[in-house]
Amino acid sequence: MTQDLEALNKTVPPDMDLQEFRANGHRLVDLLADHLETIGTRPLFPEVKPEAVYDDFAEPLPGQPTPLAEVIDTLEAKLLPHVTQVNHPGYFGYITPTPTPAGILADFVASALNQNLGLYSLGPAAVAIERRTIRWLADLVGYGAGAGGNLTSGGMMANLIALKLARDWASDDRTQGEGVREPMAVYTSEERHVSIDKAVDVVGIGRENLRIIPTDERFTVRLEALEEAIAADRARGILPVCIVGMGGSTNTGSVDPLRRLREIADREGIWLHVDAAYGGGMLLSRANPGVLDGVELADSVTLDPHKWFFAPLDAGAVLLKNEKRLTRSFGMRPAYLTEPQDGRGERYDYFVHGLEQSRRFRSLKVWMAFKRYGTDRIGEWVDANVAQAKRLYELAEAHPDFVTAREPDLSAVCLRYSPATVPDEELSSLHARVARRVEESGRFWISTTELKGDAYFRVNPVNFRTRIEDIDELFRFLVRVCAEAIR
Ligand SMILES: Cc1ncc(COP(=O)(O)O)c(C=O)c1O
Repeated sequence: MTQDLEALNKTVPPDMDLQEFRANGHRLVDLLADHLETIGTRPLFPEVKPEAVYDDFAEPLPGQPTPLAEVIDTLEAKLLPHVTQVNHPGYFGYITPTPTPAGILADFVASALNQNLGLYSLGPAAVAIERRTIRWLADLVGYGAGAGGNLTSGGMMANLIALKLARDWASDDRTQGEGVREPMAVYTSEERHVSIDKAVDVVGIGRENLRIIPTDERFTVRLEALEEAIAADRARGILPVCIVGMGGSTNTGSVDPLRRLREIADREGIWLHVDAAYGGGMLLSRANPGVLDGVELADSVTLDPHKWFFAPLDAGAVLLKNEKRLTRSFGMRPAYLTEPQDGRGERYDYFVHGLEQSRRFRSLKVWMAFKRYGTDRIGEWVDANVAQAKRLYELAEAHPDFVTAREPDLSAVCLRYSPATVPDEELSSLHARVARRVEESGRFWISTTELKGDAYFRVNPVNFRTRIEDIDELFRFLVRVCAEAIR
């Protein structure tokens, strides 16, 4: 028996190879600093076929150990050459900004300390940093005392939590126990993010009860149509639960008239949620204040630090005007998760006031970036992206073969190549082909989308490395490749 225990002890390295950790940690920092420094010299998107990448990693589960240095060699050989360089100044695709160095290092610290934000007893200072970071985000929104929130894996999860809170509130807190017993409806614009469709499903309201309200020519929600939809539901005995306003839509960065939404919500007794997952970055803007005017009136707001606050993935946030709603919606405490030392109820346990138990220390990267760069500097990066978007809008407007969806208030621009000689039905595949050519160039990455049935390029600078010259070059490139595509 004693012998067996000794044998077992030997399988646990006495110091978990801290020498190896130290040496390879330094190497990794150098490797990544070199990688980031030379980002513009490699193709933005790897020229590799999916099968080849899958083959690179097709090996059986390792039974035997490999020295860390060799594992890192493999990363250098097989991972780094085949990443999508969202850090590249020409990356204008889905909203995944370049992360700040301070944020990157914060995630390293968070992993090393492995504080679990679910319970105060698993990380007192980490809980304090999380509470402070949420307070800072609530301050940016303009919320007063009593506000709170949860950091989440992203905007999808934040929107889901918001709809659950709205549903519970609208039922006078009966749905947590009884489930959804009466038909309920949620109202949002046709420019909403798909997370709202998924959330109404998950919280039991159902996608058929999501009222998708048309938008005007600036892609903001039509208020008369919203009011009609609410009235129609009331007449049929359906309970209006929540209006989801856009605080920066994914396609065009459109912001709904939030004050007017508040008035309607107040008159009708409905929860107002604002999805500012992307547009929340505008709260840092100095040159364009007030774009999210009225956001502070919402009952809840989604904003994603891992979008336009330049935090590395993942960090979303749902913020509440009244923090107590989190406890009303989620507040359960099983016997195996009590805080026996908490005589006066001062220990804040996030698992009681939210959906998740184990939680990453997500706030550290947001907190460290605010400390290192300050809101002024981050706001300048946001403003530079807005200026770049406006520049692209002007270039496209001035060109006879391009049209734009609308002038951007944020940094998302939708432009459409539509020369008189090309029939409308060919434009969708043309845009897809051109986007493919853009990817192959290794210099830029843009996406395509559809607005009111028409195909568009969607170009979205959210990157502090991007310069105005990159935008000019992208537009010249698009003009050339589009012309080639119709030949
Ligand atoms: C407006 C909006 N809401 C929600 C989301 C989902 O956010 P996430 O990707 O962080 O889950 C996005 C993503 O782009 C978005 O643009």
